[in-house]
Amino acid sequence: MKAFYLTTAIDYANGAPHLGHAYEKVLSDVIARWRRLRGERVFFLTGLDEHGQKVQQSANKEGVEAQAFCDRVAEQFRSLCSKLLITNDDYIRTTEARHQEVVTGILQTLFDRGEIYKAEYKGFYSTRAEQFLQEKDKVDGRWPEIFGDVTEVTESNYFFRLSRYQSWLAQYVESHPDFIFPKYRAKQVLEFLKDPINDLCISRPKERLSWGIELPFDKNYVTYVWFDALINYISAVGYGTERFADYWPADFHVIGKDILVPAHSVYWPIMLQAIGVPMPKTLLVHGWWLMSGEKMSKSTGLTVDPLEVVEQAGPDAFRYFLMREMNVGQDSDFSREIFLQRYNNELGNDLGNLVSRLQNMVTRYCDGRLPASTLEDAPEGELKALWKTLCPAILSDFDNLQFHTGLEKCFQFIRAINRYVEVRAPWKLAKSEDTGDRQRLEASMAVISEGLRLVSTLLTPVMPNISSTTLQLLGALTPTDLSGLTWGSSLAGKTVGEKVILFPRMDA
Ligand code: MSP
Repeated sequence: MKAFYLTTAIDYANGAPHLGHAYEKVLSDVIARWRRLRGERVFFLTGLDEHGQKVQQSANKEGVEAQAFCDRVAEQFRSLCSKLLITNDDYIRTTEARHQEVVTGILQTLFDRGEIYKAEYKGFYSTRAEQFLQEKDKVDGRWPEIFGDVTEVTESNYFFRLSRYQSWLAQYVESHPDFIFPKYRAKQVLEFLKDPINDLCISRPKERLSWGIELPFDKNYVTYVWFDALINYISAVGYGTERFADYWPADFHVIGKDILVPAHSVYWPIMLQAIGVPMPKTLLVHGWWLMSGEKMSKSTGLTVDPLEVVEQAGPDAFRYFLMREMNVGQDSDFSREIFLQRYNNELGNDLGNLVSRLQNMVTRYCDGRLPASTLEDAPEGELKALWKTLCPAILSDFDNLQFHTGLEKCFQFIRAINRYVEVRAPWKLAKSEDTGDRQRLEASMAVISEGLRLVSTLLTPVMPNISSTTLQLLGALTPTDLSGLTWGSSLAGKTVGEKVILFPRMDA
């Protein structure tokens, strides 16, 4: 059976990872973990984009070889992945032989078929964006800041016949509403395709840039970094071998909105069409993390170091925040205040305290053993009924990538358990001699633990460690599927674990 195949953009190796990179991995990981719980075989790929001028320049600046520079950055990014609890199945680096061979093969095929041709080019070139510019890229008659220094160059280069495929692509995008998520982003692509598109310059003369994959038909050139990078999605899963059919087409290419047009929605589909490979199913386009309204990026100097947050708050809290705060597709602002609010209130007070309260009460009132519930009155019934309506709604939110609302519902349920605790007030019941009160006390322990078990199951993809710890405390196993989502799997007789503080309070 074909795997559910999802990829992230491969990060540029020209600097340290920031929050934007971390988010994309967490989002993809949550989807991967969710699909696995859903019973699918998942293949999750991420990696590093190592060629190109920016990487060469960064290496030069430090006076090290480009490869050595990339090796170090790769270590940084991979270590970030493990600290963020990312469960990727593979990590591709574009300097690996398995990748370079596929790129070289595709270049040769396209050249042999006349899809790549040589021509003289005279025009403007932006080193920062590593691309040729056209008059229409100017704003108010000037090159926008994002292009950095723009110089006029005349040189011979190789071009890929993109323009041939323009009308095919426009039609494809229009007739495949699921090709781009959120759907409204397709408009941007169709807008881009309204004007005639130029063929794509896919080479760089070696005298200008040597850090790249050499063109198999002309040793004086290397290939353009995007042409190289996009191919990672197929080189990693054995393009050209039998294995390829087990993965392709990709189910999701998870990318940020800045690299949708033209790279992923124009170059990539056309490259695939030209070599006769089916289209990926969906480009999942997320928004940007901003700081005070501006895009977080290395070049603006506005960054949040994800490792710092993870070190202070733990990976689960960080993952929770990213998924709870951002509506996939839209932008979000990162601020320490909002982070602390969610951390202390939702995670610390609502969830963390509930877990330690339960542990404490079961230890004191029930000798550390979870009792069976032999009673169901209105408060128990209400909580159960709430789960019955919330659970399918959360499943549907997660299936539809609405993690922020799904998580909101999880916490709505957690708050309802907290209210239930207040209503039952087990500490009062524990003082009573009445047998009915004893029954209520035991029922309340059973109900609270069952509620926590259910919601922790659904929180697993977002907070894998915290969920495991909570489930373990209840004597339950970490779920490997979603079979345990109905109320009533009895935890009776299980011994509660040691006291834990899931989210130690953090001060501003
Ligand atoms: N190397 C290219 C991608 C090639 S994919 C074949 C690239 N690299 S990047 O390092 O600049 O960005 C990697 C991913 O991080 C992109 O999807 C990008 O959109 C995302 N982010 C970078 N900054 C971001 C934010 N501030 N917020 C959210 N994600 C953003 O582009």
